[in-house]
Amino acid sequence: MVWQDSARRYNSTTMPRIPDETVQQVLGATDIVELIASYGLDLKRAGGDFKTHCPFHNEKTPSFNVSPGRQSYRCFGCGEGGNAVGFVMAYENLPFPEALRKLAARSNITIEEGEYDPQEDRRRRRLSRLKLLHNQAARFMHSLLLEDPGAEHARKYLKSRGYDREMAGRWAIGWMPRNTDVFLDWARDAGFTGKELLHSGITKLREENNPRSGLWVRFGDRLMFPIHNERDDVIAFSGRKLREEQGGGKYINSPETPIFKKSNVFFGLHKAIRHMRDYAVLCEGQLDVIACHEAGVKNAVATQGTACTNEHARLLKRYTGSDKVVICYDSDFAGHDAAAKAFLEMAALGMDVRVATMPPGEDPDSLVKSRGPDEFRSILEKSSEFFDYRLRYLGEENNLDDPGTKARVARDLSPMLHAVSDKNAQEASINFVATRLGLSPDGIRQAVVDAAKRPSRRRDQKDDPIIVESTPVDRELGVLAALALQSHEVLDFLCDQTEQVLIGAEGREGEALLRNILSTRPNVPNPAAVNTFLQSLSAGDRATLLTLLEEPTPAAPLTAATEILGILAEQGILQELGALAARLKSPELGDDDSKTIMERITELQRIRSEAKSP
Ligand code: GTP
Ligand code: MN
Repeated sequence: MVWQDSARRYNSTTMPRIPDETVQQVLGATDIVELIASYGLDLKRAGGDFKTHCPFHNEKTPSFNVSPGRQSYRCFGCGEGGNAVGFVMAYENLPFPEALRKLAARSNITIEEGEYDPQEDRRRRRLSRLKLLHNQAARFMHSLLLEDPGAEHARKYLKSRGYDREMAGRWAIGWMPRNTDVFLDWARDAGFTGKELLHSGITKLREENNPRSGLWVRFGDRLMFPIHNERDDVIAFSGRKLREEQGGGKYINSPETPIFKKSNVFFGLHKAIRHMRDYAVLCEGQLDVIACHEAGVKNAVATQGTACTNEHARLLKRYTGSDKVVICYDSDFAGHDAAAKAFLEMAALGMDVRVATMPPGEDPDSLVKSRGPDEFRSILEKSSEFFDYRLRYLGEENNLDDPGTKARVARDLSPMLHAVSDKNAQEASINFVATRLGLSPDGIRQAVVDAAKRPSRRRDQKDDPIIVESTPVDRELGVLAALALQSHEVLDFLCDQTEQVLIGAEGREGEALLRNILSTRPNVPNPAAVNTFLQSLSAGDRATLLTLLEEPTPAAPLTAATEILGILAEQGILQELGALAARLKSPELGDDDSKTIMERITELQRIRSEAKSP
């Protein structure tokens, strides 16, 4: 995208270099509308965008446009334009690093004074090699799908689902051969190393931890759907089974890799991003997204292999100018359950969530096929406000005239009402639910207050014993986890130091919990977001965290967290160094293995010395 390139251009002319990740982090934490308004410019809404008089030239009618969706500004009079950093540079006449530092300070982000860092440079080169591998692999597998004699069944299957050649081309759909050596040979001829193939997640070792066991390709004889990032790079694949008797799930997705983090990827975003100004449509599966786009609903995306996370919600909020999302999930139990979870995440961010209800047993893909695009679009247009939808759904299976049922439904809805962070919207929803159930708004309000006090109970745990056993957690890890949920600074810091955190946590009780917090990255300390996160945990984990959260937050949470992390990382590194030294002594060790071990030892020593000299 244009604004990212311009940020990089300014950056490359200045030394010392600020890492791209930091630039992205600062931009991600900045809202350009709020930034420009903070300079006293009087922004007026115009559709999904904002307009005002251009501060860079004299004009009578406003032609200065700010787009929250693209996070950029542009004056159609004088041509000035760019992203948030560009605005600060132009408005305050500052060079890039200073402008970025200013923005960073607004969001409490610290910018490391980085020198040119060869290690960082290598890392970046590795990432672009991984993207190159994915892009070329997608093209190769697409040509196999179209032309390979062995792909006849794949072409037939695709046709049975209503895809012609052009449609397969628009989505770069491919075929991974049944004989996966064809793929491996192609990759080697194209110059990719075994290590790169491993890091891409397309392959894994036949035996874990045995580099000599050879490469195994994950997606043999599957229909391959490339997953793109918003810049149009292929970063992962999802492979669908072609034969019933085939092993593995219906879909197999790439594992997490340095370029693919499930919690912040949307299928279809590269195409939808330009069409999300008014609202976005959130589907369950990639075939649904494709069906939507092909039916002219070009603002559809789906999370890829996970439920809608807090990070997903934050991204949708950023991309949609209106903060409005229409959920369009399958109309089965799992779909309704997933809709409620997605609602909790988005409502906590003050977003406007609507739900389009598919007829029983249908998903967008099947509906477009059985009843045509017009009927599908009209169902989308008739989407309901979330609580309206929810009461209708609950009313299908319950008699809402029955007093006992009314009370239970009110209790079921209370966590969702509680999640609504916009106070006016919450009040309106409480009144709406009260009217529909024929209960008093005060009663519902009380249920919402009670819901806030009972974060440890989940709807589907009605039969759990009242006494919940806390999960045992290593004291240091527990304190770190609690700090991360109490302080935004600590959570950001830990996410930045993931490598150290994971070394320090390895093998300890509470490791999984800490990993979960870092990958979910809830919007702390927003109580609704923290509650939503707590709800997603097992009862035992939740009980442990709730006890830890009762302890007072230290005055300097970041300092406390840094100290604990230092101790943990040191212990973890010493332990791993000990284990590696022992393995080096083993008589069966091959040259390759000892080289790998020596490399790891060097890396650990580097991490250790970095941790010691902050
Ligand atoms: P079709 O059955 O091909 O029409 O796909 P669908 O999109 O209707 O699939 P479904 O509603 O069953 O699942 C929705 C999404 O969940 C899919 O797009 C996948 O991302 C994911 N999914 C479904 N089945 C599996 C599975 O077996 N393994 C994994 N990892 N993900 C799956
Ligand atoms: Mn389907």
